[in-house]
Amino acid sequence: MAEARLNQRRVLVTGGAGFIGSNFVRSWYRQQGGLLLVLDALTYAGNLENLKGLEESVIYRFVRGDICDRTLVSRLLQEYAIDTIVHFAAESHVDRSISGPEAFVQTNVVGTFTLLEAFRTHWQDQGKPDHFRFLHVSTDEVYGSLGPDDSAFSETTPYAPNSPYSASKAGSDHLVRAYYHTYGLPTLITNCSNNYGPYHFPEKLIPLMCVNILLGKPLPIYGDGQNIRDWLYVEDHCTALSAVLRQASPGETYNIGGEAEVKNIDLVNLICELMNELAPDLPVRPAQQLITYVSDRPGHDHRYAMDISKIRADLGWRPSVTLAAGLRKTVIWYLQNRTWWMPLLSEEYQRYYQKIYG
Ligand code: NAD
Ligand code: DAU
Repeated sequence: MAEARLNQRRVLVTGGAGFIGSNFVRSWYRQQGGLLLVLDALTYAGNLENLKGLEESVIYRFVRGDICDRTLVSRLLQEYAIDTIVHFAAESHVDRSISGPEAFVQTNVVGTFTLLEAFRTHWQDQGKPDHFRFLHVSTDEVYGSLGPDDSAFSETTPYAPNSPYSASKAGSDHLVRAYYHTYGLPTLITNCSNNYGPYHFPEKLIPLMCVNILLGKPLPIYGDGQNIRDWLYVEDHCTALSAVLRQASPGETYNIGGEAEVKNIDLVNLICELMNELAPDLPVRPAQQLITYVSDRPGHDHRYAMDISKIRADLGWRPSVTLAAGLRKTVIWYLQNRTWWMPLLSEEYQRYYQKIYG
């Protein structure tokens, strides 16, 4: 397909008002023409503030709705002549999947199935065009947990999900794979490690630590803090997804990661150091005094690490932002965007914040 036509893709972005989805919409918007239609249910994690500024654009549209609503999805595919789905919409927080797994099965499994069925019909109705794509954005957690000396997950590592969240993502990955093998639907799957950066909901480790340091609240470390995650700056994830959309062959799967493994306790110490340096009015200084060990997450995976040699070799992608540089940018973003995260806190926290900062 000619490059000009690729740049004119008509993309449905599910979950585009969430953390990674909104970063992707901004990044794709900067590089492409065509159409960007965001479909998002605006759950607690979806926020139109994340897309602020795009409303005036002629290539951007927003629809509030559920990916499980087949009638709505089919209508949107037809009405907007969609040729590409980039599928982010999901319940994404492991802790919430432990206390309430049902929503994870509904959105992550049933929602993905609904999109696949609607897209398959639409693709068939259009005569199965070659350039159609369904890019499913998934996670490294489907591979389970690594020991300290195990080599990193590759695309051929067997699936071994341990939480209701990762099991639901694994289920959706399998459905996407099956639609390629059974129907020839031009699907792609990416499995990515932990993202961080702007617009990250303050329930996940990095934004929670940033916000709690600014509030002078305890920094909860699960278990002994020795668990390891591989961190990727969100803009790098977005460039990887663009590379997959542009260059990858249908049916392919790519691992994406930051090659930046770090123990949780070391990461939290780094965030404390940055806050000590960059925030003049911390309620508790040094921020490390707030570190508090709490009960471990049930079934807590010990370590994730991604082998990204396939995407490097095939598509020439690699992460460009180091953990030190990305964390600094992120801490500065949370310092400069209190008006973004403050309304997301409980009323009790908001009152407490007003007392400290006025
Ligand atoms: P998020 O929780 O910030 O955003 C999810 C978005 O999906 C929200 O805007 C929400 O309103 C929307 N949504 C939820 N249920 C919906 C439904 N039924 N219909 C329509 N919209 C719905 O999530 P995120 O961290 O941005 O993750 C996005 C995707 O990337 C997820 O599929 C996740 O599994 C995957 N992923 C995340 C990470 C990470 O580190 N955050 C890493 C790898 C993969
Ligand atoms: O690996 C990719 C996954 O990364 C994504 O698929 C998920 O959507 C995303 O939420 C993230 O999952 P994690 O469970 O790894 O992220 P979280 O930020 O919740 O936790 C990161 C690590 O920090 C994990 O080992 C648990 C620990 N933790 C987390 C929180 C919220 C704490 O020690 N204290 C905390 O308060």
